[in-house]
Amino acid sequence: MAKFRKIGILSSGGDAPGMNAAIRAVARRALSQGIEVVGILGGYAGLIGAADEANPEHIKRHMLRPLDSSSVSNIVTRGGTILYSSRCPEFKTQEGMEKAIKVCHDHQIDAIVALGGDGTFRGATDLTNHGIPSIGIPCTIDNDITATDQTIGFDTALNNACSMIDKLRDTAESHARCLVTEVMGNGCGYLSLYLGIATGSIALAIPEIPFDKEYAIQKIDQARKAGKRGMIAIISEGMPKVNGMEYGEALAKEISARTIVDSRFNKLGHIIRGGDPTLRDRLTATQMGVEAVNLLLEGKSNMVMAILENRVTAVDINFALVLDKMYKNKLKDGDLEGFTDYQLAQMRARCEYRNAKFKRLYDLSYDICI
Ligand code: F6P
Repeated sequence: MAKFRKIGILSSGGDAPGMNAAIRAVARRALSQGIEVVGILGGYAGLIGAADEANPEHIKRHMLRPLDSSSVSNIVTRGGTILYSSRCPEFKTQEGMEKAIKVCHDHQIDAIVALGGDGTFRGATDLTNHGIPSIGIPCTIDNDITATDQTIGFDTALNNACSMIDKLRDTAESHARCLVTEVMGNGCGYLSLYLGIATGSIALAIPEIPFDKEYAIQKIDQARKAGKRGMIAIISEGMPKVNGMEYGEALAKEISARTIVDSRFNKLGHIIRGGDPTLRDRLTATQMGVEAVNLLLEGKSNMVMAILENRVTAVDINFALVLDKMYKNKLKDGDLEGFTDYQLAQMRARCEYRNAKFKRLYDLSYDICI
């Protein structure tokens, strides 16, 4: 069993409900094994900031908060992250990395568990390569990490957005309007796809599947002529702008202009990222947090936790990052070097699985949400 004096935990990138449950699980599992735990406040920026000569000692100390069992009491129910978060471009620089490593050495932080998305995992793999074994836990509402079926925060954001869209339907019904509603996703249509089906949206535009706008407008027009009053159209964040206008805003204007249906544009925005995590997110976060510490104890690192076939497992971070690029068509020359034929086949199969799932659900929504 690997020996660690202290494990650091940080959250980075967009916060996600369930992060606190993961922090609690990592802290309590490590403490139960006699390992000290420190929370690094403000993500990678906090880790670097704790080394910054310009920062007074009390600020530097404040960035590293020792965690005992009671410091993570009562946080399993809370959204956001008690460790705060940031996006930190400096961490990608050599200078930033040197500062981070110095802080780890100065404070006897022997390993790090990093909560976040793909940017966070790139940081975790850099730390591992510089001698600080690290494990990533996928936390983002977007569910855009290809290596896992589910990210922490996705389920809560879905439930938050679902109840808001249901409220929009009340007012849409009263005024006989079509409310075009944009949902976050950072270029990934997962949230919108699930919400489109679950809220009965008459039209659904996501980046992964070509959107037939003419068909959608025709459908809205016909639905009104058949007596339907309130309608919801869901647009995923990341759809291309139209003449400098948000896609959803342009669509709402076009619906109003070309049909007898009055339409308005809404953006749910950050509100779906907050609030109490659902049971599912709490449970997944707890399982992943415990397993992340177990992996470190087994001497494993540079891995990202994942849910595959309903089981908690872990995937090599480099594999996960390249798989993500493959899925998002962002592969660069040389990215696939060093992987075995079997791994490449696994990546392709994973991409096909994900694409097929999107298509299957999208087709289903076409027939059902009318
Ligand atoms: O990654 C989560 C997310 O909420 C995305 O859906 C969205 O595009 C982005 O973060 C917003 O980022 P920020 O909070 O930095 O504005």
